[in-house]
Amino acid sequence: MEETNVTYQMPRIGDTAPDFEAVTTKGKIKLSEYAKDKWIVLFSHPADFTPVCTTEMSGFAQRRAEFDALNTELIGLSIDSVFSHLAWVNNVRENTGVYFDFPIIADIDMNVSKLYGMLQPNESTTHAVRAVFFIDPSKKIRLIMYYPLNVGRNMDEILRVLNALQTSDKYGVAMPLNWKEGDNVIVPPPTNLDEMQERIDGDYEEKVDFYLVKKKLNN
Ligand code: BEZ
Repeated sequence: MEETNVTYQMPRIGDTAPDFEAVTTKGKIKLSEYAKDKWIVLFSHPADFTPVCTTEMSGFAQRRAEFDALNTELIGLSIDSVFSHLAWVNNVRENTGVYFDFPIIADIDMNVSKLYGMLQPNESTTHAVRAVFFIDPSKKIRLIMYYPLNVGRNMDEILRVLNALQTSDKYGVAMPLNWKEGDNVIVPPPTNLDEMQERIDGDYEEKVDFYLVKKKLNN
């Protein structure tokens, strides 16, 4: 297929999540009024009744309790009708017992897909790519993932980064490579001489030098 120059808006980390009103499997949603005081994971899948998407949606449904524990609501999306969504949800429930009991946007006019850069025309002009937007309680976009049509996402990683974002916010620390719950966290690098001396003299769990210091979180 010849490459197209058509481009849609690509939201960026730190932007306010573009507002929308959409029809979902749980009724209408207006993002700016939805799930106040909670995190939102907004994710797209290319199409209902397709294999990779079925494994991913099942993954979100099966890990729902972990999202709940992180004060997070899920919103799915694909460029399919709500009737297609309902039939797929029911089909998967009948076949596997897994129930997609969270709103799935029926984005048949592609409005939300275009707003969130989920429609990437050189990958597909008709299917959303596999996107994940992590939206904090102030409705700021904090982390974005885009995967192509042919590779499923990793649910452990989705939950890991959600936990990392929340832990970073709560304690004012940064998260090192492969950080997971219980690991040491990074003390923000010093921005003045006093802080530099404090990092040098301080009793920390791990220290490479004043600019790379890790501590244990005391919850
Ligand atoms: C899938 O979910 O298996 C899929 C959907 C659209 C394109 C390719 C794969």
